[in-house]
Amino acid sequence: MTSLAQVGMGTTLAGVALPSPVLTASGCSAAGRELAPYLDVAELGAVVTKSVMLRPRSGRATPRMAETPSGMLNSIGLQGPGIEAFLEHDLPWLAARAARAVVSIAGGSVEEFVQLAGRLVGAPGVALLEVNISCPNVASRGQVFACDPRAAADVIAAVKDAADVPVLAKLSPDVTDIVTIAAACVQAGADGLSMINTLLGMAIDTDTLRPILAGITGGLSGPAIRPVAVRCVWQVHAALPEVPILGMGGIMTGLDALQFLLAGASAVSVGTAVFHDPSAPARVARELRDALADRGIPGVADVVGLAHRDGRR
Ligand code: FUM
Repeated sequence: MTSLAQVGMGTTLAGVALPSPVLTASGCSAAGRELAPYLDVAELGAVVTKSVMLRPRSGRATPRMAETPSGMLNSIGLQGPGIEAFLEHDLPWLAARAARAVVSIAGGSVEEFVQLAGRLVGAPGVALLEVNISCPNVASRGQVFACDPRAAADVIAAVKDAADVPVLAKLSPDVTDIVTIAAACVQAGADGLSMINTLLGMAIDTDTLRPILAGITGGLSGPAIRPVAVRCVWQVHAALPEVPILGMGGIMTGLDALQFLLAGASAVSVGTAVFHDPSAPARVARELRDALADRGIPGVADVVGLAHRDGRR
């Protein structure tokens, strides 16, 4: 039996040491400020920020959120203040609290991604970049770079050249073979992979007889997508076992997080859960530590990819 105090919660993601394997998920807690009344942002593995773009952006028309069975649809459309305001207000706030930032960047072209990565060079507290090539809420599927191995690789190679911190490629599950996209990103220089982004979905209001979301389609998140996310992490870890993975998709509890680690993730992001429990990232970390102790597992590093090994403990 491992005592709680003995459980090693530290992990390494793409060469970056993190004190906890539990991070926030991009798009669910802005740049961390809203979580501060509920948890200590410095105790998280990192705060993964809402994807930032070059310019301020109001996003798609409302309504742009809808509840679904065990899930949530959003069609936010990459609303945000733009990189200059982010650098002025958001990043310093995180750095002042000694929180690590994983900055999610989103662009409409390779050049926009490069400019964003360039603006973040030398910025305080940035541990990693998460390159959001998979947002489903864009004008055309052609802008979902993660649906095409070549387009994905072009973005990642260019960002990698421009960045001064390790780069994670954020992948979409809405592809025929996620391993092909993962391999293309790794070959292009990605230091790790974030997976998964939301699945493209929609819901129709049976009273108004119209789509619920003004944008018609949206990204599905929450527990409904967890089995898809675990499957994606499993497949990519099986094919590319050396590649660090930040796993996400419907994590609500420590045991959910443990599934992702067992499938091959080195760390996890908690997203949709914060909408009903803003303390969820800290709670999930505590529950994960308890689950490891209960199972006599000394630490996070001992469990990454364990479900792939022959035989049972
Ligand atoms: O619409 C949005 O802002 C969502 C972004 C994403 O899922 O990557």
